[in-house]
Amino acid sequence: MTKKTAEKEIDVFDLQSIDGVGKATEEKLNSAGITSVLDLAAATPRELVELGIGAEKAEELCLKARLLLIESGFLDKEFVPATEVLERRKSMQKLTTGSKAFDSMLGGGIETQAITELIGEYGSGKTQICHTLCVTAQLPRDQGGLDGAAIYIDTEATFRPERIVQIAESRNLDQRKTLENIIFASVYNSSHLQLTVKELGRYIEKYKARLVIVDSIISHFRAEFIGRGTLAERQQRLNDLLHRLLRTAQVHNVAIVVTNQVQANPDQFFGDPNKPSGGHVLAHSSTYRIFIRRAANNTRLARIIDSPYHPPTAEAYFKITEKGVEDLQEK
Ligand SMILES: Nc1ncnc2c1ncn2[C@@H]1O[C@H](COP(=O)(O)OP(=O)(O)O)[C@@H](O)[C@H]1O
Ligand SMILES: [Mg+2]
Repeated sequence: MTKKTAEKEIDVFDLQSIDGVGKATEEKLNSAGITSVLDLAAATPRELVELGIGAEKAEELCLKARLLLIESGFLDKEFVPATEVLERRKSMQKLTTGSKAFDSMLGGGIETQAITELIGEYGSGKTQICHTLCVTAQLPRDQGGLDGAAIYIDTEATFRPERIVQIAESRNLDQRKTLENIIFASVYNSSHLQLTVKELGRYIEKYKARLVIVDSIISHFRAEFIGRGTLAERQQRLNDLLHRLLRTAQVHNVAIVVTNQVQANPDQFFGDPNKPSGGHVLAHSSTYRIFIRRAANNTRLARIIDSPYHPPTAEAYFKITEKGVEDLQEK
């Protein structure tokens, strides 16, 4: 893949297009799954140091990769006038959830270049929303889709292809094609999740994916890091993971949806006694945080709890049917 601009034409898959990367460095980088300028731009200097690259050179290479992507028009500049920020947001696209009410609460749908976090108790419908999005992502743009494949990273063993078939069929879509365009990965522990996310850029390009699901982002961390002494390390690793996800969302212009659990919040005497897991790390990394809960008459309520520009009380009712996520008034 090359991108031509007035200034420069580069091959983003060729690491050697970066000044300072020769055969030896390329091999080191490849050994860690960094095979393109895109991967390098999403890497942290610390990872490079772990490969035996000097600290100064590591910093320099990550920076050069990012600058090269900026120069070639692949990535937007870091300091820009707000007019350009608006321009950049125009390349952002929105994905339909399957419910107009839910979409309009979000200002049109789930955004690319961002992490959207679905938070809720067990059974609230997070996994069902994820399944639906994998189908709607494949729709053409004029039907609210992203016209691309979906990558589903499952940590809880709750992905069900049968459910995808049901959603596709009831929406009159080709079930086989729909299944083929969902690239599935099962991850077994938090280190495996970190590795999978490191490789994500490559799979996004290979399968032309426009949506990445991580269901859930937190379960392995909660299971593996127990007790106060391990909290700092857990938060550090979660932080790395989320930053990488966010850079991936921006570099590849994909929508990333992660699910999160709630934990008992004993400090809260009034209102909702549950709060999202993951503490400040998740709160600061997600671009959008949406609380999902069951409501009366088998409906669901989605509420935005953290967003740069949505009103804090925005909410929407929807339901889960054979079609996946749907508006209340539909049949
Ligand atoms: N085919 C279906 N039709 C209607 N509702 C469904 C269907 N499949 C699952 N559900 C609903 O979704 C719920 C499970 O939601 P899920 O997304 O697994 O929750 P979470 O991931 O938040 O724990 C079930 O209890 C059921 O109410
Ligand atoms: Mg679930």
